[in-house]
Amino acid sequence: MKKLLVDVDCGVDDAQALMMALAVPDVQILGITCVHGNTSLENVCKNVLRVLKVCKHLEIPVYRGATKALLEQTVSAGDFHGKDGLGDAPDPQAPGLELVQKEGAVSAMIRIVDENPGEVSLVATAPLTNVALAVKLDPSFPKKLKGLYIMGGNTDSRGNTTVCGEYNFAADPEAAYIVLNEFICPIYIATWEFTCHSKLPWEFCDGWLAQDTDKARFMKQIFKHSMKSSQSERIEKELVAGQGFISCDSYAMAAVIDDKYIVETEHRAVTVELAGNHCRGMMVVDHLDLLKKTHKVYILKKVDLERFKDLMMNALK
Ligand code: BDR
Ligand code: CA
Repeated sequence: MKKLLVDVDCGVDDAQALMMALAVPDVQILGITCVHGNTSLENVCKNVLRVLKVCKHLEIPVYRGATKALLEQTVSAGDFHGKDGLGDAPDPQAPGLELVQKEGAVSAMIRIVDENPGEVSLVATAPLTNVALAVKLDPSFPKKLKGLYIMGGNTDSRGNTTVCGEYNFAADPEAAYIVLNEFICPIYIATWEFTCHSKLPWEFCDGWLAQDTDKARFMKQIFKHSMKSSQSERIEKELVAGQGFISCDSYAMAAVIDDKYIVETEHRAVTVELAGNHCRGMMVVDHLDLLKKTHKVYILKKVDLERFKDLMMNALK
């Protein structure tokens, strides 16, 4: 059984990643920690509960985390996922926030990992504020993790939120810096460019959403808004590697779920730029080992997209 902790800012692709994991029998989610990002923290908690409801897993504990970045909140997720983070398609019967645990996200992360040393993989698909706070409260936290799987950052200067910054890193550069410099455990990163080069065809998306299940109907509703944004002229022009469907956070989730999914990685020392007019929040890759860092991360380069499609399909079954 694979034991996971998932840290989310539950926008549509976080929901897709969660649904992917919830549909796999040998994956056990020990807790879902919520953090600011695509929408307000309260909306993030609500969205996670909606996902758990449709997947019939409301028994999984949900925790409230940081409402803001460590230092300053300079970027906004805008309206890409809708104001409520799930396409502004509310469910009047959504579970109430009283289901959210009293214990805070960061202390829950530390406790759950303490109770299962060496066994828990943490999947972080959001600004890294909670994750950075965990290492500051307990410096031994990373050593007790089995692995850390991140969606975020970039390998060249192509941003998606600021000129050079990918959203999850740009939304809390200090947190991303702390995580990439203080987490001495295996780290796998699905970067923005990687996700752009790993798109699924829109025809796949049509078949995916056409499944006759409550989960597919839920996805169709929440995805309408961001699908439109993805297909808009600006994004089509802007995105590398042509047209197609990107579920950013799902690429990081698949890496922990399926051992045969990763085909190629690059093993590099990385850090995050904290200054600069355009580069604050940009991931910096040290190709020549000039930073003399001993700990390196695995940057996803190539994955088995057929296996990824199977995981995506299975998520809505
Ligand atoms: C990341 O930003 C968020 O909007 C998505 O959920 C994803 O985690 C992509 O840059
Ligand atoms: Ca996210």
